[in-house]
Order: sequence, then C-alpha cells, then structure tokens
Amino acid sequence: MELFWTSPMRTQVIEIVLALVVVGLVSLRGAECRKGRILDSFDYTAISCRAHSASLTDFGGVGDGKTSNTKAFKDAINQLSQYGSDGGAQLFVPAGKWLTGSFNLTSHFTLYLQKDAVLLASQDITEWPVIDPLPSYGRGRDAKGGRYISFIFGTNLTDVVVTGDNGTIDGQGAFWWQQFHKGKLKFTRPYLIEIMHSDKIQISNLTLLNSPAWNVHPVYSSNIIVQGITIIAPITSPNTDGINPDSCTNTRIEDCYIISGDDCVAVKSGWDEYGIKFGMPTKQLVIRRLTCISPYSAVIALGSEMSGGIQDVRAEDLVALNTESGVRIKTAVGRGGYVKDVYVRGMTMKTMKWAFWMTGNYGSHPDNNYDPNALPIIQGINYRDMVAEDVKMAARLEGIAGDPFTEICISNVTIGMAAKAKKVPWTCSDVAGITSGVTPRPCDLLPDQGPEKVGLCNFPTEALPIDNLQFQQCSYSMSYY
Ligand SMILES: *[C@@H]1O[C@H](CO)[C@@H](O)[C@H](O)[C@H]1NC(C)=O
Ligand SMILES: *[C@@H]1O[C@H](CO)[C@@H](O)[C@H](O)[C@H]1NC(C)=O
Ligand SMILES: *[C@@H]1O[C@H](CO)[C@@H](O)[C@H](O)[C@H]1NC(C)=O
Ligand SMILES: *[C@@H]1O[C@H](CO)[C@@H](O)[C@H](O)[C@H]1NC(C)=O
Ligand SMILES: *[C@@H]1O[C@H](CO)[C@@H](O)[C@H](O)[C@H]1NC(C)=O
Repeated sequence: MELFWTSPMRTQVIEIVLALVVVGLVSLRGAECRKGRILDSFDYTAISCRAHSASLTDFGGVGDGKTSNTKAFKDAINQLSQYGSDGGAQLFVPAGKWLTGSFNLTSHFTLYLQKDAVLLASQDITEWPVIDPLPSYGRGRDAKGGRYISFIFGTNLTDVVVTGDNGTIDGQGAFWWQQFHKGKLKFTRPYLIEIMHSDKIQISNLTLLNSPAWNVHPVYSSNIIVQGITIIAPITSPNTDGINPDSCTNTRIEDCYIISGDDCVAVKSGWDEYGIKFGMPTKQLVIRRLTCISPYSAVIALGSEMSGGIQDVRAEDLVALNTESGVRIKTAVGRGGYVKDVYVRGMTMKTMKWAFWMTGNYGSHPDNNYDPNALPIIQGINYRDMVAEDVKMAARLEGIAGDPFTEICISNVTIGMAAKAKKVPWTCSDVAGITSGVTPRPCDLLPDQGPEKVGLCNFPTEALPIDNLQFQQCSYSMSYY
C-alpha cells in the first residue's frame, strides 16, 4: 500500500479521482441548468430529420386565438428556408391557438404541431390570395377561373414533413360553407393542405377539422406518405373530401380515421379535355387501415375527375360505418382516361346504401368543350374478402353503353341485407366480369365461377417502392433561458 501511495501512480490516481469529481460537478450543474431552461423535448418519426430548429414564438407568434400569426409564419419559414442546403429546419408550434392566414411551406422543412397546438385558419378573405386554376382541371371546381390558395400550401418542393403529436389544424370552414351554399363565392374554396409539383412528402399524426373543402390534396407529386391523420367535418358539409391524391405517383395512405361530408379518399387525375391534355395519371397508390364514416359518399372514390388515368391502386383493411358506398367508380363520356388494376381486399362495412357502386354517367363537365368521343376505359377491378351488414343494395354497376366496364372480379364477399333492403340486390348494365363465393347472388353479367374459385380475384404480392421508404427517429428540444 505504502509503496503504492508513494509511487508516481499515486498522483495519477488522485488526478483521476479529481477529474472524476470535476466532471461529476460539471455534469450536475449542466443538468440543473438544462432543467431550468429546457421547456420541451420529444421524439418523432419522419422521412428526414433536421439540423436546425425554431419555435413559432421566436418569430413573435402569439397563441391566444385572436392575434394574427400570418407574419410570424411567413417570417419563420422565410428564415428557415435558408437552411435547405444545410441540413434543413424544423418549426415547432407549441400548445395554444394560433390564428393565421394561408402560408407556404419550403423544402427540407418540418412543421411540427404539439398535442395542444391548434392552427386556426383566418376568416379574413383578404388573407387568401387567388391562384391559377389547376391546369388539369382548366377552372376552379366551385366557380370558373382561379381559386383561393390552400391554407397550408407548397409547390415545387422536395422533402417536406407536416406532423405532430396529434396537433390540430382547424379550417373554420363554416364561413366558407355558408358562402358556397349562398352562391356568393367568386372563386373556388381553399383546401386545407395542398402540395403541388413536389417529391417526398409526409403528412402525419395530426387532426384536421372543418376544412373549407378538400382536406389533403397532393397533386402532380410523388413519394407521399399520409399516416395517422384524423379528419373531422360535419357529414353535411359540402365537398369536405378526406384525402385526394391527384395525378400522383407512389402514395401511401394508412392508419387514418375520417368522418366528413364527402368521399373519405377520392383518387383523381384531372377533368375532361384539360385532364386529357395534361395527361398525368395517379398510379402506385396504397391505402390501408382506413376507417371511414361518410353517410353521403364513398370510402374510396375513383374519379369522377380521372382523365389523366388511374392505375395500380391497392387498398386493404378498411372499415366503413354508416357510409353511402364502399368503393365507387365515377366517370362519364368525355372524361377519356382510364381506371385500371384496382385491388381491394379486407373490408368490413356496416350500414351502407351500396357496397359497390360504379357510375358511367356521372356527368359534371367543366364546360361544353369536352370531346364526346373521349370514352374512359374501366378495366381490371378486383374486390375480395369482405363482409357487410345492414346494406340496402349490394351493388349498382352501371357502365357506359358501347363502352362496358370489363374484367371485374368479386370473390369471397358476404353482404347482409338491411331489413328494408331493395328487392333486387344487384343491378348491372354494360359491365363484364366474374364472381365466386359472393352472397347475395350477383347479377348475370358477373357469372359465378363456383365456390372452389373463391380465391379468384388477384391482389399483387410484390410491394410498391413507397413501402420501402424508411422512417427515421428525429428529436426536437427547445432550449430557452
Ligand atoms: C404562397 O405562394 C403563392 C404562389 O406560389 C403566392 O401567390 C402566395 O402569395 C404565397 N403566400 C405567402 C403567404 O407568401
Ligand atoms: C413547378 O414545377 C412545374 C413542373 O415541373 C413547372 O412547370 C413550374 O414552372 C414550376 N414552377 C415554379 C414556380 O418553379
Ligand atoms: C387525435 O385527436 C383526435 C381528436 O381529438 C382524436 O379523435 C384521436 O383519437 C386522436 N388520435 C390519437 C392517435 O391520439
Ligand atoms: C405517429 O404516431 C404513432 C403513435 O404515437 C407513432 O407510432 C408513429 O411512428 C407516428 N408516425 C409518423 C409517421 O409520424
Ligand atoms: C374470405 O374473407 C374473410 C374476411 O372477410 C377472410 O378471413 C378469409 O380468409 C377469406 N377466405 C378466403 C378463402 O380467402
């Protein structure tokens, strides 16, 4: 021992002990400091994490539900857009009610809404610039000409995340719905979130309330994930569609709960001569684990604007409650385009007007210049493994005379009829296809192939590229003094 303590090692040991004590003190003090100044810190999952962070309050944001934050959002995003080529930036919106006009997103950017953060869309119409109509539509849907910009808008972007801990975006749509019903709007109503001409988009873990019209509208975009979104609007509110992928490639919609006044998901690709000319399809779309309540519309609608074409749609694990129809195809003479290779499996439906509905005479043209020879092609529509109860009519399938909807396949579907069901459960015209293991007995245009063919209708086994997109574990910590 003696030798040990008098050896040069002794001083070394003392130095180490001292060093440990000092390190311990420093880290203790550090912890105390952090306790005093870190207001919040959390993790979230996203397609990319960011090197730079800021809070809306850094830019003068006031979350009292009355003060306008239009300038705060504009300043924040302008400032943070500078980091696009330097690791990107995230903007944090803390608990509070943040009134704001429309604002634009930027590339390599994350908008994060905390659990009790509510964005309130301004009802001051001067805060809504009017932008050009979508080229694939030729005009606004409510009125000719331009349209009010969407509440959260982005165009020509890459790598954008709008997410949160189930924070809320409230469109305060009642004002717009009233104006729409009174026919007072000069331009088309805004959507809640619209991303145009963009790549790599994530919209997740948010609640969207009372959109003026459509809720989520990715258009002319690719590689889009919409996950964990709750959408709520009154069931009588006009055109409050849930999620509308429109001329998009590689889209994944999952784990969403939607109750609204229009289709829960509506797949689109442009309108008549404008959509045909623009020629941009929606393809490679996955929809899974969707719960839908829409008494006046469909769980998934394909169309009616489908003039750029819709191809390779895969939907599974769907629940419909008190909804007008399950899957619906809507089109018309003059639309052109196609709806091809649609696969739906695993759907539970309760209290429905129609389980399946196809409409070839939807009408609704942008103007009278549509081409009466532009006939849509509807082909390769596969439905399987479904159970429904309390249904008024199993199916109403109406193709177009001289342009039948073909290669329809329906298998392993049991539809329980409502007490006051229609006398004839299936009506079919201008359609062709096959069925197996379907009750009640389908129409003669879809002949039964026998119970041994119950596994008949195809569902692709290979994954789409969007399913290989990996999430990262990101974090945010606020460090205020
Ligand atoms: C957002 O961008 C659009 C056009 O891309 C523009 O008209 C609008 O003024 C911008 N909004 C804001 C708040 O900067
Ligand atoms: C956005 O991208 C589209 C399609 O690539 C292009 O036509 C348009 O000019 C771009 N707009 C801007 C503002 O860069
Ligand atoms: C998010 O909030 C909505 C509205 O309050 C609620 O219905 C939903 O269950 C919440 N989702 C999660 C995952 O907590
Ligand atoms: C959404 O929230 C759930 C539950 O908190 C979480 O497991 C998931 O990773 C989140 N996803 C995204 C994409 O934000
Ligand atoms: C039929 O559909 C049910 C779900 O409704 C599923 O559990 C079952 O495996 C399916 N049967 C076949 C043969 O695919």
